[in-house]
Amino acid sequence: MTETFDAGWLDLREPFDAAARHPGLAERFIAALPPQPVIMDLGAGGGSLFRWLAPRIGGDQAWLLVDADAGLLEHALNVTAAWGAAQGFAVRATSGLMLRTPGGIWRIGAKVADLADVAPLDIGAADGVVCSALLDLVSPNWITALAGEVTGPVLACLNVDGHDMMLPRHAADRTITTGFRRDQSRNKGFGPSVGRHAEGFFQAAFADEGFAVSTAASPWHIPAGAAQMLSALVDGHATAAARWMPSSRGTITAWRKSRLRQIAIGRLAMRIGHRDLLAVPLDAHGG
Ligand SMILES: C[S@@+](CC[C@H](N)C(=O)[O-])C[C@H]1O[C@@H](n2cnc3c(N)ncnc32)[C@H](O)[C@@H]1O
Repeated sequence: MTETFDAGWLDLREPFDAAARHPGLAERFIAALPPQPVIMDLGAGGGSLFRWLAPRIGGDQAWLLVDADAGLLEHALNVTAAWGAAQGFAVRATSGLMLRTPGGIWRIGAKVADLADVAPLDIGAADGVVCSALLDLVSPNWITALAGEVTGPVLACLNVDGHDMMLPRHAADRTITTGFRRDQSRNKGFGPSVGRHAEGFFQAAFADEGFAVSTAASPWHIPAGAAQMLSALVDGHATAAARWMPSSRGTITAWRKSRLRQIAIGRLAMRIGHRDLLAVPLDAHGG
């Protein structure tokens, strides 16, 4: 079954995602694209990666946002239309969206599809493939299949790596982390998930297919005061841990209460570790 995500959660995390993604890897991805590239965004959700990467590409470009959730894709087009208008771009609704910008024309299409099977998606026709916060949901076999399909550069942003820190520390952090990590590796529609190990599987699969792979840290830094984001993360951790550790429910509930109290008085800050991953065909520029 496909894992579902709330549009409100994706909107809430967008500024933290934007601050965390690694601009240097993005520049190298862009250097490996042809002019007027066609880009496929896998698990595009609310389209936040488009709004971060398209201005960096700048010139004419065409995107295909792919996601299993038709509601999220509609949200992506609506939010991007409003964002484009706020930037002063001329925005036209087509079967997707067209933005006329000073740098060029940016076309966006949307496709509802289950990514569990990559073969029917014609991924090889895209000049570049991108994703953000997707790879920790997929299986090792899925990453291998993706590496076998793509023909151009791949930029996979914001894959959790398990290097998280909550400050101040709490006596029950270890219990929560144990349950949370277990939840990260459950089947989310692609087979058992790679969870925090996406980087190693990505490196191996793409190197085998003749790509040069580079990786970089892209952590979220969530300061005390970002109460909504911190609360969402505390709730997410507690719910995930409780799913796998029913016998520790009392500890988890007490941990959640204590963490929410710290958030209310501006005492909790978090770092959530991610890695950005880039694969460039060895014969392309920027490799
Ligand atoms: C964590 S969200 C990331 C969304 C977006 N890339 C972002 O960074 O905001 C993961 C996305 O993958 C999509 N997804 C999960 N499983 C999927 C599947 N089997 N097929 C297609 N999309 C899927 C979800 O609908 C969701 O939009």
